[in-house]
Amino acid sequence: MNRIFYADPGGYYFHIGIIFSVILFGFFKSEVCFSKFMMMNRVTVIGLGPMGQSIAKSYLAKGYEVHLWNRTRSKADDLVQSGGIFHSHISAAINESELIIVSLTNYDIFYVVLHESTENLQGKVVVNLSSGTPEEVRKAKDWLELFGAGFLSGGIMVPPPLVGKKDPNSYTFYSGDKAVFDRYQSHLEVLSRTDYKGDEIGLAMLFYQASLNVLYASITGIVQSYAIIKSANIDAKAFEPYMQGFLNFLPYLVQDANIPEEIDTKTYDGSQQSLKMMLAGAKHVTETSREAHLDYSVPESIEKLFQETVNSGFGENGTTSIVETIRRTNA
Ligand SMILES: NC(=O)c1ccc[n+]([C@@H]2O[C@H](COP(=O)([O-])OP(=O)(O)OC[C@H]3O[C@@H](n4cnc5c(N)ncnc54)[C@H](OP(=O)(O)O)[C@@H]3O)[C@@H](O)[C@H]2O)c1
Repeated sequence: MNRIFYADPGGYYFHIGIIFSVILFGFFKSEVCFSKFMMMNRVTVIGLGPMGQSIAKSYLAKGYEVHLWNRTRSKADDLVQSGGIFHSHISAAINESELIIVSLTNYDIFYVVLHESTENLQGKVVVNLSSGTPEEVRKAKDWLELFGAGFLSGGIMVPPPLVGKKDPNSYTFYSGDKAVFDRYQSHLEVLSRTDYKGDEIGLAMLFYQASLNVLYASITGIVQSYAIIKSANIDAKAFEPYMQGFLNFLPYLVQDANIPEEIDTKTYDGSQQSLKMMLAGAKHVTETSREAHLDYSVPESIEKLFQETVNSGFGENGTTSIVETIRRTNA
């Protein structure tokens, strides 16, 4: 053995070559296996808004062969410069990869875009990272099944600049068939940490929209407060330290005020702050906005929610009791 390996280097490489050839032959002898291997580091990205572009960039940075389609061709220019392959027809882009990542404004556009290439969807796995509702997602799953495509839904909780950056606070909710998720998880991890919510396809969107609700409601409240300050010709900046102080207090509200427990157990402790007292304050926020000639639709809708809950007999309970009105409204 030593003579072959060390005294005769040509023989050594020859033997190693034979061993590798046998292994590779074994692996590639089935056409299916070969084509799967070739597909593994390919991805098709449909939709090149800010998010789709960041998604495509992340895959290019990881050495993937990235196929692209977007209604507006010019949005692919930089990506093509970096090695992406643009297809002028969506069917060609879909044909190139097994994994199809979709990033469009909403589910209506998802159908507008994909209906042109339904015959190319057989055997593909579509991962839709576009915003939608859980019900829209369930319908899309049924629709894709008609054409033999697998489906994962995702709600990406990462702003475009952080996609692919492995920020510990960045993650994407996913739901859908667990076996399909397991198979593609490593590819999806290129974008962010994955947070799989379960087999029921609508779950990722449920978590995603619950998160967006916090975002939209918070930003609106924050901006309205700055507008109240600005209405007195005071720079919004003057309120910044107080805003910061309140934001520092929020973790206490979320973690220590037992909101989830109170909602789960339907016990709404009003011993320190009753809803009746909060309603009086909410009316003043509405009136202050009205006096300042600002739009008061958001404070007013909060006031109405508090009022209705007090009317239902929860005045001595805590603010969390508004969930009783929210639930009833949704029923
Ligand atoms: N941006 C973010 O911070 C962020 C963060 C998390 C999640 N998301 C989600 O990611 C998804 C994409 O976000 P984005 O910021 O990239 O959104 P966007 O700017 O709305 O991008 C939309 C994409 O949809 C395409 N599109 C819109 N209308 C179309 C139509 N009628 N026909 C064909 N294509 C159409 C656009 O094509 P054209 O280029 O031709 O207009 C573009 O590719 C959204 O669902 C969003 O909720 C975004």
